[in-house]
Amino acid sequence: MPFAKWFVGGRLNASYICLDWQIQNGKGDKVAYYWEGEDYVRRVVTYRDLYREVNRLAHALREMGLKRGDRIAIYLPMVPELPIAMLAAARLGVIFTAVFSGFSAKALADRIIDAQAKVLITADGSLRRGKVVQLKSIADEALRSCPNVKKVIVFKRLDGNVNLVEGRDVWWHDVLPKNDVYVEPERMESNEILYLLYTSGTTGKPKAVAHSNGGYMVFVHSTQKWVFDVKESDVYYCTADIGWVTGHSYIVFGPLSHGITSVMYEGALDYPEPDRWWEIVERYGVTIFYTAPTAIRALMRYGEEWPNKHDLSSLRLLGTVGEPINPEAWRWYYRVIGKERCMIVDTWWQTETGGILISPAPNLAQFPLKPGSATFPLPGIDPEVVDEEGNPLPPGNKGFLVIKKPWPGMLLTLFGDDERYKEVYWSRFKGVYYTADSAIKDEEGYYWLLGRSDEVIKVAGHRLGTREVEDAFITHPAVAEAAVVGKPDPVKGEVIAAFVVLKKGQEAGESIIEQLRKHVRTELGPIATPEEIHVVNMLPKTRSGKIMRRLIKAVALGSTVGDISTLEDGASVEEIQRAMEEFRMSMGIRGP
Ligand code: PRX
Repeated sequence: MPFAKWFVGGRLNASYICLDWQIQNGKGDKVAYYWEGEDYVRRVVTYRDLYREVNRLAHALREMGLKRGDRIAIYLPMVPELPIAMLAAARLGVIFTAVFSGFSAKALADRIIDAQAKVLITADGSLRRGKVVQLKSIADEALRSCPNVKKVIVFKRLDGNVNLVEGRDVWWHDVLPKNDVYVEPERMESNEILYLLYTSGTTGKPKAVAHSNGGYMVFVHSTQKWVFDVKESDVYYCTADIGWVTGHSYIVFGPLSHGITSVMYEGALDYPEPDRWWEIVERYGVTIFYTAPTAIRALMRYGEEWPNKHDLSSLRLLGTVGEPINPEAWRWYYRVIGKERCMIVDTWWQTETGGILISPAPNLAQFPLKPGSATFPLPGIDPEVVDEEGNPLPPGNKGFLVIKKPWPGMLLTLFGDDERYKEVYWSRFKGVYYTADSAIKDEEGYYWLLGRSDEVIKVAGHRLGTREVEDAFITHPAVAEAAVVGKPDPVKGEVIAAFVVLKKGQEAGESIIEQLRKHVRTELGPIATPEEIHVVNMLPKTRSGKIMRRLIKAVALGSTVGDISTLEDGASVEEIQRAMEEFRMSMGIRGP
């Protein structure tokens, strides 16, 4: 540690495991993905289809001069071409970074530049709530600041009515060889990088989490089996977007490495009606269903009549990921979706961990569940709840969750920045991996994951850094300073509440607030749209000039000074009290 290596000298190729090996096992005609567009267009993709398309695309990428160790970026919606692109890159040993198709031009450009990607794979567009998301024009805008991208491959999902830049852009269907080809998979050393996935941290700059070939594949394969107990006959539906780690591990590499059948859906969960997912479960006979608590809470709001319109009897296992699940949502999921027949796996993990670390594992053991607890660590995972000094806490106490031993799915590093990797994960407590989550281990050893203890917030399960959002505010010409906090929300878990100080002479009012909301949305993407924006005269700061975010959060939540006096590092109670009073007055809040 911190640079643990797995299966040193072992060689493999992730696309070989997910495709060639499956076909050798007689699964060529088995369905890999049932795909459904938001407009009800449907495709059935077998393992042989995937194999054929991956080889063709790998051939085209190789023709473009890409070779082992090069990087490409993938900016695709939820279409089968997304896993195809990932696997084609993996086949060549080309490191790919998939960027969530809801991200803005700027977010895409930042990632392309950081990864020094030479090729971008995108689409003309995609459908979301019946509207066209103009992916190609967003990509074009991003590419204005990415001279390193020499070629753009465009998949035609819609009518193809987009601008192709001469000499740079090519249609997917034109660049692929007409006939079947075979591309020999690169024999990757276990510890070479398979992919980079950018995730938010406590600075403004997203971190490039690097995952390995060997350790990662072993870990997602194992956890897919242990946690989801997958069987040959399963129809598995993970509702995540492949742009996030959940999709990488548990829509692409985990399920394909087992040769099972998955469902992939392009659009919004409530389009055209709030029963879209249940309709899908019924149509394909889904047996395993994996989603996020925020989605469950959103669907709960629409009422039971929507799931009750459909036959959900094929379901046997339900899962959640991404944030703590509140017992009320857990019970609804258990009763209304699982009809009190299905076990629920609450799976705790992170982009950095590659796969699930703490979760029930019905394939390995049976034990009683507790709604809201992710239960126990999986084999080989050695967590501990510790205090500020890193000392283990007795059961029942809230502390920081750390992992004491490396595990195969653990990130290799932050791409190009070993120092930052050490600093972020291995410096808070000596010799252990710092998760930045708070947790409690109860008397019976069950783990309760309580959310982030750092400046990272979860908005509808999406991970955002408060600094990142503040930086987006500051790029607006009217803004002098900004502070962003996460505020609890009954559906989204958390929403963004922002406090901004405007530049001198700038009028406060509805119009500027609307402008700022739009600005942040364009800078970062729709998931970062601030829910609340408060214009204030000043932000509370420590003597050393650090913004007191936790105090701001306390004000946003209406807490009192007593509750927060221990929260701000290095500030005295009087200092906090004074800052809080000034800040409250600045917000127009009077009285206790
Ligand atoms: O705070 C934890 C929360 O999500 C964070 C990781 O976010 P991300 O890297 O986007 O990965 C999400 C998908 C793996 C964690 O630090 N989290 C994830 N799963 C759970 C959870 N919190 C509580 N319970 C969970 N099951």
